[in-house]
Amino acid sequence: LEITLEVARYRPGVDTEPTLQSYQVPLREHWAILDGLTYVKDHLDGTLSFRWSCRMGICGSCGMTVNGEPQLSCATFLTDYAPGPIRVEPLRNFPVVRDLVVDIDDFMTKLPKVTPWLVREVQSPVEDGEYLQTPEELDEYQQYSMCINCMLCYSACPVYSLEPDFLGPAAIALAQRYNLDSRDEGADERRDVLSSPEGIWACTFVGECSAVCPKGVDPAGAIQRYKLTAATESIKELLMPRSRSRR
Ligand code: FES
Repeated sequence: LEITLEVARYRPGVDTEPTLQSYQVPLREHWAILDGLTYVKDHLDGTLSFRWSCRMGICGSCGMTVNGEPQLSCATFLTDYAPGPIRVEPLRNFPVVRDLVVDIDDFMTKLPKVTPWLVREVQSPVEDGEYLQTPEELDEYQQYSMCINCMLCYSACPVYSLEPDFLGPAAIALAQRYNLDSRDEGADERRDVLSSPEGIWACTFVGECSAVCPKGVDPAGAIQRYKLTAATESIKELLMPRSRSRR
């Protein structure tokens, strides 16, 4: 039994536009789209380009558009699309480097702007031991720490497709991952970039980012939560100019 993969092929600067190329691959139980593409590469056409690394939904490198939806190709199965055909294209909203490989430099440039690490104003001496947290404190941010930077949320985001300067779902969710961490003291540092016109206020709460996230992160929820924080802080500053809450 076989299934047809219709795969986007494109070499910028050489081809005038992307074209779809059809390949017949074995329709095997437990074969992911990535297994089908690997079969093509190994047995049918070694020129096909795509990214992958872990094959288990952890590294975030195998994002593609499968039948119009952003998916991790290692976690999306051929049998779910039988009898086919299955259209496999690069993630939308990113420049194509070649075939299914996209350029995510835009995200890599934006991410450091939200200071995506723990900020401590004063480091405790090592002999004082770990910064302990309660399970409740862990629950506050754990969901956002599951992000694997796969870019499915940017590919699904209608705002990012129209406003490329938008900071974007994953970067804002990762900012909240640290803002909501009881060990962090960097909320003020992240505030200006998050509250800028390209930050949370650009989001129109369509929610597609959360719908496509393969790790159950809720970037749309993170953005709405920070909107509430920012609005509350603005009101407090109007009333008490020196007051500023952390989250
Ligand atoms: Fe790592 Fe798919 S290959 S997430």
